[in-house]
Amino acid sequence: PNLPDLLVVGSGFFGLTIAERCASELGLKVLVLDRRHHLGGNAYSEKEPTTGIEVHKYGAHLFHTSNQKVWDYVTRFTTFTSYQHRVFGKYQGQIYSLPMNLGLINQFFGKAHTPEEARDLIAEQASEFDTDGAENLEEKAISLIGRPLYEAFIKGYTAKQWQTDPTELSPDIITRLPVRYTYDNRYFNDTYEGLPTDGYTAWLTRMADHPNIEVRLETDFFDVREEYVGKVPIVYTGPVDEYFDNREGRLSWRTVDLEESVVDVDDFQGTSVVNANDEDVPYTRILEFKHFHPERVKTHLPGKTVIVHEYSRFAEEGDEPYYPINTAEDREKLLKYRELAKREPMVLFGGRLGTYKYLDMHMAIGSALSMYENKLKPHFAAGAELT
Ligand code: FDA
Repeated sequence: PNLPDLLVVGSGFFGLTIAERCASELGLKVLVLDRRHHLGGNAYSEKEPTTGIEVHKYGAHLFHTSNQKVWDYVTRFTTFTSYQHRVFGKYQGQIYSLPMNLGLINQFFGKAHTPEEARDLIAEQASEFDTDGAENLEEKAISLIGRPLYEAFIKGYTAKQWQTDPTELSPDIITRLPVRYTYDNRYFNDTYEGLPTDGYTAWLTRMADHPNIEVRLETDFFDVREEYVGKVPIVYTGPVDEYFDNREGRLSWRTVDLEESVVDVDDFQGTSVVNANDEDVPYTRILEFKHFHPERVKTHLPGKTVIVHEYSRFAEEGDEPYYPINTAEDREKLLKYRELAKREPMVLFGGRLGTYKYLDMHMAIGSALSMYENKLKPHFAAGAELT
């Protein structure tokens, strides 16, 4: 068959950044495979057909970065709205503004503390445990923010995320629990933040829109690998354990079940994300997608809204892997897979699945730009070996 100059496995942000750079800058013919029916990986979104509301199909995706290189790159393909992310949390019938801040503290303790008074209060409550001596996640969290805030805002949420009581979880899962002694409740503090003006899929599609790039969907690399391995350079962004037939064992992941529904109210919760902090509420949060694009209000069907309940659990075989669990066992397996990956001729591993790392979009794009500059360009433009 007609071999491409480069094969890219996976059409997420990592794979598309590699494909776009190699096609546009080096003039290479790039074939991109994806086993899903759409391109874009986990950032893919589509309009819910009855309401016209854009839904991020693999969970809420907020773009933010302080990396100038990444920003200069992404703005070639899309403009961004001025959306700023803010998260609220529901606990025992009240709505609080997150991340933990002076507004939350004052509402929770029912008193108007000054920043200094709030700081003293939390320091006193946190003195129950010594951070360095904490033996589990619960003790560590209490040593950082005190028992009352822990029990309201961390305990139930964490137990649901991990399906495990926090006294059974490693203290290493959290390093810090930021508390802001101001009323600032912006979720991110990056230089740039916003949502792609005409949606994620339009942005991702423009990245792939080049005569030298072919995207072949519903094609699993493992069904066609013999045609390419050892014959053309490959950038592989699928799960690293799967590439090696799980021979060192499976890496563990958490997944999220997303239950989407259209409800007959114009506005369900007044904002895009409300966490469910009560332990006895089974979901972790509710997303309401129209609030990501208030500027599109005229294009949304009035009287209806799209909400998604999120449920977190351990991924089983066949589930979408979302968040690496990264136990000591996982880290051992990963080291072995990294060794195997290094020895795999002409194959580079990248992206969140290929490196078993949670990567925000800007990190996936930034790391793909580095792989392009440091490995692919030297190889294709100057004949350097591909390792
Ligand atoms: P990605 O997973 O997107 O793409 C990999 C692709 O490879 C997939 O399309 C898959 O089908 C394909 N593939 C795998 N194996 C294959 C095979 N054998 N053959 C063919 N194709 C194969 N980031 C952020 O900046 N802000 C946010 O708010 C969020 N929110 C968020 C929520 C949730 C629930 C998750 C899980 C993740 C986020 N992210 C995020 C992170 C974001 O999704 C992530 O940065 C990108 O998906 C990374 O892109 P990749 O290309 O690395 O992987």
